[in-house]
Amino acid sequence: MPPMLILGIESSCDETGVALYDTQAGGRLLTHALHSQVATHREYGGVVPELASRDHIRRVVPLLRKVLNDARRARDQIDAVAYTQGPGLAGALLVGAAFAEGLAMALGVPVIPVHHLEGHLLSPLLSSQPPPFPFIALLVSGGHSQLMRVDGVGQYRLLGETLDDAAGEAFDKTAKLLGLPYPGGPALAALAERGRSGVCVFPRPLLNSGDLDFSFSGLKTAVLTRVREIGEPDERQRADIARGFQDAIVDVLVRKAVRAIGISGLGRLVVAGGVGANRELRRRLNEIAAQGNIKVFYPEFEFCTDNGAMIALAGALRFQAGISQKPAGAFAARPRWPLGELFG
Ligand code: KG4
Ligand code: ZN
Repeated sequence: MPPMLILGIESSCDETGVALYDTQAGGRLLTHALHSQVATHREYGGVVPELASRDHIRRVVPLLRKVLNDARRARDQIDAVAYTQGPGLAGALLVGAAFAEGLAMALGVPVIPVHHLEGHLLSPLLSSQPPPFPFIALLVSGGHSQLMRVDGVGQYRLLGETLDDAAGEAFDKTAKLLGLPYPGGPALAALAERGRSGVCVFPRPLLNSGDLDFSFSGLKTAVLTRVREIGEPDERQRADIARGFQDAIVDVLVRKAVRAIGISGLGRLVVAGGVGANRELRRRLNEIAAQGNIKVFYPEFEFCTDNGAMIALAGALRFQAGISQKPAGAFAARPRWPLGELFG
């Protein structure tokens, strides 16, 4: 296959991401650009879908110009356009989909609709020390918490998943309970760093369930109960609660991931998705890896949360594997798109 220049576009939630990936010589990311909408949504305490869509419209063209400039490429050098088709916010997805399909049609190149979670799943391959297949993936984002066996591009088997809230969702909701600003996950993690372990001990849901599923909604309720017991927690108490919450969630994620490694007999764990940026999670996993039985891989911090680079990469790998490209034209965003439909 001749070398290809793949444009990647991400617009599933509150970040517009655009990237250029060159498949030449094993493939490399040429450049990527991101606009975060944190400032837009902050005063509302969460993502406002209509504002998200409008902002994606404003940002996508300037970001495309920027990546083309930075990579010193011309628009007509693009060989295919990959975009996040779902899952995510319908309006936000439609902006990326319509833009990608329109651009591809104008250029006369194919499009590659990408599943957002596949982007996360493959994002560690962008790092300087990429994991070889097969591996176990712990995918922990705002919308998903899953353990998967990954044998290759498009070859995914679900081993376990959350029965209710996703890990990131639990971080965000708990952050709100503690009065922290959106985006809650990183704010809660920062507060937890200042708290003391063991002062507030919360349950570890499904820890001994024998399977690889998660459940986090009860943990949020346990925090709520604790906050109500205290009444108006001061700064130190809030930090201790945050620490207790983080310890509990990280403990469950780590133990289930290690169990998945044990059951599969694979020695490699990949951590992907926004919660993969959590330092305590990384510290615990690195401690286990240091004992020598498993190797843990992470995406670069900038590729843990949503970005265009992972979409360009997933698009390039799917194109090379001969899956999922199509002529530009008829398209639909897929706000709900079970990852299971990709399982080979
Ligand atoms: O992967 P992502 O950017 O978007 C989705 O696909 O959902 O993940 C966002 C999630 C949010 O719930 C956010 O609170 C969480 O990842 N997150 C974190 C951290 N950074 C982001 N959770 C815990 N600790 C962090 N440092
Ligand atoms: Zn994401």
